[in-house]
This record gives sequence, structure tokens and C-alpha cells, in this order.
Amino acid sequence: MNNPMLKIAIILGSTRPGRNGEVVSHWIYEIAKKRNDADFELVDIKDFNLPLLDEPISAAASMGQYSKEHTKIWSAKIDSFDAYVFVTAEYNHGIPGALKGIIRLQALLAMVALAGCAP
Ligand SMILES: Cc1cc2nc3c(=O)[nH]c(=O)nc-3n(C[C@H](O)[C@H](O)[C@H](O)COP(=O)(O)O)c2cc1C
Repeated sequence: MNNPMLKIAIILGSTRPGRNGEVVSHWIYEIAKKRNDADFELVDIKDFNLPLLDEPISAAASMGQYSKEHTKIWSAKIDSFDAYVFVTAEYNHGIPGALKGIIRLQALLAMVALAGCAP
């Protein structure tokens, strides 16, 4: 029977120069990839150069029909996973703006809703 492995993204949620999140996320990835019951990939938000809120129609209203190429690339990447691990900093009692921005995008909305918290 075809039983594909679970694909899990480890998402590096901080983007600032000198971020500690880079070391932390690599540390998690190195441990995670030793497992043989799931595939892990480190996904760095910074690599996708996503401007904040630059889609003209909200993700919920457009149902993921994005207009910008960078959003389409990000959406395709994040849609390819079954589960997510977030590595986040805390800035002034909240998560980084870049991380909040991607959580607002369509692919993660359903997951956040299921987890019972508002993005
Ligand atoms: C602007 C700023 C605000 C911060 N606010 C908090 C905070 O509210 N609570 C906290 O525990 N740490 C706070 N910190 C500490 C960071 O969460 C901590 O340094 C973290 O490692 C930063 O992650 P990064 O290096 O990946 O950006 C703050 C750091 C910065 C730079």
C-alpha cells in the first residue's frame, strides 16, 4: 500500500540580521532529520522576500488565488507540507511581523483555525 511519509516544515520565523532563530532552527532540524518516520525541511521565511500585506484581496476572500509571484511561490511551498513547526522569537510580547504575515496567508489559515487561535 502506498504510504507516503509525513512532510514537516520547520519554519524559521525571524528575519532580522543576526537572528538567534537561525541557530535554533538548524539545531531542531539536525535532531529532527535523524528520524525515519517523517521528512523534515527547514523553511526560512527570509528566503521568500515576502512584503507584508501586499496582496490586494485577503487570503480568506481570494481562496488562495494570489496575484503576486512571490506569494504564489510561498503558497506552493507551504502547501507541500502536512505539518509545521514554528521557531519564533518574542518581540514585545508578540511574534515577529514576518511570521504573522505568513500565518495570514491562505495555506496556514486552516491550520491556525483548527488550532483554535486567531491569526
Ligand atoms: C525588538 C525586540 C523585542 C523583544 N521582546 C521580547 C519580549 O517581549 N519578550 C521576551 O521574552 N523576549 C523579547 N525579546 C528577546 C527575543 O525574543 C530574543 O532575543 C530572541 O532570541 C530573538 O530572536 P531572533 O534573534 O531570532 O530575532 C525581544 C528582542 C527584540 C530584538
